[in-house]
Amino acid sequence: MGRELNLDAKVIKKDLNWAELGFQYHRTDFRFSASYENGQWSDGELISEESIAIHEGAPSLHYAQQCFEGLKAQAAEDGRILLFRPDLNSERMNHAAGRLLMPDVPGKLFLRAVEETVRANYAWIPPYGSGASLYIRPMLIGVGENLGLKPAQQFEFRVFVSPVGPYYKAAGLAVISLAVSAMDRAAPNGTGSFKVGANYAGGLLATREAQQLGASEALYLDSAEGRYIDEAGSANIVIAMKDGKLITPASRAILPSITRRSLMQIAEHTLGMQTEERPIELHREFADFEEMGACGTAAVLSPVGKIWFDDAWHTIYQDGQSVGPIMQQLYDSLMGIQKGELSDQFGWLHEVTV
Ligand SMILES: Cc1ncc(COP(=O)(O)O)c(C=O)c1O
Repeated sequence: MGRELNLDAKVIKKDLNWAELGFQYHRTDFRFSASYENGQWSDGELISEESIAIHEGAPSLHYAQQCFEGLKAQAAEDGRILLFRPDLNSERMNHAAGRLLMPDVPGKLFLRAVEETVRANYAWIPPYGSGASLYIRPMLIGVGENLGLKPAQQFEFRVFVSPVGPYYKAAGLAVISLAVSAMDRAAPNGTGSFKVGANYAGGLLATREAQQLGASEALYLDSAEGRYIDEAGSANIVIAMKDGKLITPASRAILPSITRRSLMQIAEHTLGMQTEERPIELHREFADFEEMGACGTAAVLSPVGKIWFDDAWHTIYQDGQSVGPIMQQLYDSLMGIQKGELSDQFGWLHEVTV
């Protein structure tokens, strides 16, 4: 399947209002599905059905035996289709799989599935310059009959894609606000550092509460002491300090963001900044924050203008609404690489041939 359909799809580019897209599910034509049974992965194939028929006892439904990933494909000006460090998504998915007693998805299968899904949905890849991109969601779920608390015997690995616009409402480099949550996201020795659905269900209420305060998202402090910054609901945190350093929280309970790791490298090697990964104590250090950003595949790098804590808003850079020069430079460098506008000096891009 696939090949001929791909070529057709390539000719008929979808007529979407790309610039108006938000971060929402938009059905595309194909998804990839592979299954694991008796210790073996099937080859997998492209399918068109977006629903998954699943046993009512499946461990992913009851015990959250599932994990997922998120990455993006960007169309470059010269027509290349670019993935950003997909090897790290594959690695991170397998860390999560191991933690939840699920089988590894072999790196080759992961990459082939991502490539085939992107290629087959070529018509849905937002054009260069539209401000939108193709979000890719690989997922691994425990399926099959089960009742007691034990791992599944069968698994499905699926990859679907959706054209998306900015995660936060404003277009471009949107300044966001965060509200410190009274709820914990993850326990110190729990699953916070793995991209598993179980971490997110508990965050829905925290996000809603943050939004009721007028914030874009919740900001979590460490759950042992409630002193140190962990991360936002769907993004890691980077902070430019008044002494010129770029710092980011060291915590075993946060997702090791691929965007964050990349930004720290850009800051050090491109902007010549000193960088540090260390615990960051919100109350004690806030006065030394010069600029702050929330980063991730979906959020890219969103400057944080203000934080709600101790029953008040605390503004960061200037009036809490403008974008500071460091976040701007980091954003430009990262986006420039991701869209193929700047040289890929770190070797991060993976081209999907179409
Ligand atoms: C909780 C959480 N933290 C951080 C991130 C950012 O990670 P990445 O940069 O790998 O997308 C995400 C998702 O993207 C996330 O869900």
